Amino acid sequence: MVKTMFRSTRRAALTTMLAFGLLVHATVSDAAPTPVAASRKIIVFGGSGQLGAQIVRALQGAGHDVTVFVRPTSDRDRLTKVDVHFIEGDVTIEADVRRAMQSTRFDVVVDALGRSGADVDFFATSGTHIAKWAGATGVKQLILHSSVGVGLSKDAYPPERYPAMRRLFVAKEIGENAAIASGVSYTIIRNAVLRDPPEGTPENARLVSDQKSYGSVSRRGLARLTLACIDAADCRNRVFHAIDDTLPVLR
Ligand SMILES: NC(=O)c1ccc[n+]([C@@H]2O[C@H](COP(=O)([O-])OP(=O)(O)OC[C@H]3O[C@@H](n4cnc5c(N)ncnc54)[C@H](OP(=O)(O)O)[C@@H]3O)[C@@H](O)[C@H]2O)c1
Repeated sequence: MVKTMFRSTRRAALTTMLAFGLLVHATVSDAAPTPVAASRKIIVFGGSGQLGAQIVRALQGAGHDVTVFVRPTSDRDRLTKVDVHFIEGDVTIEADVRRAMQSTRFDVVVDALGRSGADVDFFATSGTHIAKWAGATGVKQLILHSSVGVGLSKDAYPPERYPAMRRLFVAKEIGENAAIASGVSYTIIRNAVLRDPPEGTPENARLVSDQKSYGSVSRRGLARLTLACIDAADCRNRVFHAIDDTLPVLR
């Protein structure tokens, strides 16, 4: 009962914020999103990680109904006191992803996974499993966090560092291509340099569609942009780079 009221209040807050355009203020620079004022059922893979937890907080804070896919061993400390559901599994095991995706009817999937082991194919395997079961279970939107250096953005990546990253980027490209081929409306958000300035530092992250762009962005900025893309028509079937021009670029 208390939980239901809490969710209703947040939903009302979301509707009000959207009505006044607060959630889309300066969020997507060359893609003006048109969000729908509705709470979505969203599953976040990697939601216990540094980026994922910020995304989970942003989505939940805006009134969405969030499920976080975690391993039994995942540290959930970043999500303490956040009103979310958890489902356990290992994303490299397809049956675990299938079970999670079939557990309820999700509207949106967010992939904010980071590779925790030495498996160079991690992003190919995880991206393929997620895309396949998002498509098979009627998900409406798939938001994938990826890296500058993948696909057409290869030329934007510092050439001296590219050889060391090549296998990782190949795996991420397989994950991106699986999302694109899934039949689900996809949004790919690539980052180049992740920097996390102290709390309170203004952030000005924006999405650009120039795949030659290279710059820094904060996880907080990525979380806000992810929220802004939920249901946004201008984020549909797009590949973006996330850039915050106010952060120094480290090449
Ligand atoms: N360009 C840059 O400067 C830069 C720097 C860092 C990261 N990145 C990119 O940013 C993204 C997110 O990075 P991050 O720093 O937020 O990563 P992170 O803190 O390491 O989080 C990774 C998340 O993925 C989960 N995960 C890993 N293996 C899994 C598995 N087999 N099954 C289920 N969940 C699994 C982790 O859960 P566990 O707790 O169970 O491991 C964790 O929640 C990645 O794409 C990464 O490549 C970019």
